[in-house]
Amino acid sequence: MDTDTQKLRAAERALDYVEPGMKLGLGTGSTAAKFVDLVGARVKEGLDVLCVPTSEGTRAQAEGLGIPLTTLDETPHLDLTVDGADELDDALRLIKGGGGALLREKIVACASDRMIVIADASKRVEALGRFPLPVEVERFGLRATRALLELRARRASCGGDIRLRENRYGDPFVTDGANHIFDCSFDPIPEPEALADALASVPGVVEHGLFIDIATAAVVAGPDGVEILGKP
Ligand code: A5P
Repeated sequence: MDTDTQKLRAAERALDYVEPGMKLGLGTGSTAAKFVDLVGARVKEGLDVLCVPTSEGTRAQAEGLGIPLTTLDETPHLDLTVDGADELDDALRLIKGGGGALLREKIVACASDRMIVIADASKRVEALGRFPLPVEVERFGLRATRALLELRARRASCGGDIRLRENRYGDPFVTDGANHIFDCSFDPIPEPEALADALASVPGVVEHGLFIDIATAAVVAGPDGVEILGKP
């Protein structure tokens, strides 16, 4: 089974946890996009759900599919968020933000009773950090923020290349929240909790892509089938 099919299998399985009347958070990325497609198909069949997208990209996709949307201002409490991840470990700690949507993804997931991660088996790791950790930062004072980020990360035993993400034109990537992203190659991250605290202590850091104690379950599809981690 190729990776794309594994993503689809994970998305299909996650759909089992969606119930009529639910308020749903819709994730961002190629795996989450498959889930959004499936929700859209169910909505066409009459499923009643109200959804909050985690990015402008997902908003456009969901609107195109006719999925009823709301905002966290109108609907601040959601039942379930289903989203992808760049990495996940056995403790359901995640790295997210490869698609640049980590800030809204974290806000939406934390506004939800449950967050289910959907992923292909390649995303599962023993130690987080192989995937460069995205850190969303305020544009003002970029170099100062980068220097402090490096210093604080070192105190959490994390060193490595820190790169300002660029778009396809070579300009700094701009998030939906109009911020920039540093991709931090901190492989491995020995203590994700310590790093999360260290990053949160840097004033220019808007949010980081470590999701700790947020995911309640994961649906991971591999070549031999689907495995459920945690309590969906
Ligand atoms: C988006 O910002 C990310 O957090 C995605 O959820 C993550 O990058 C997973 O994306 P894929 O499903 O495309 O691998």
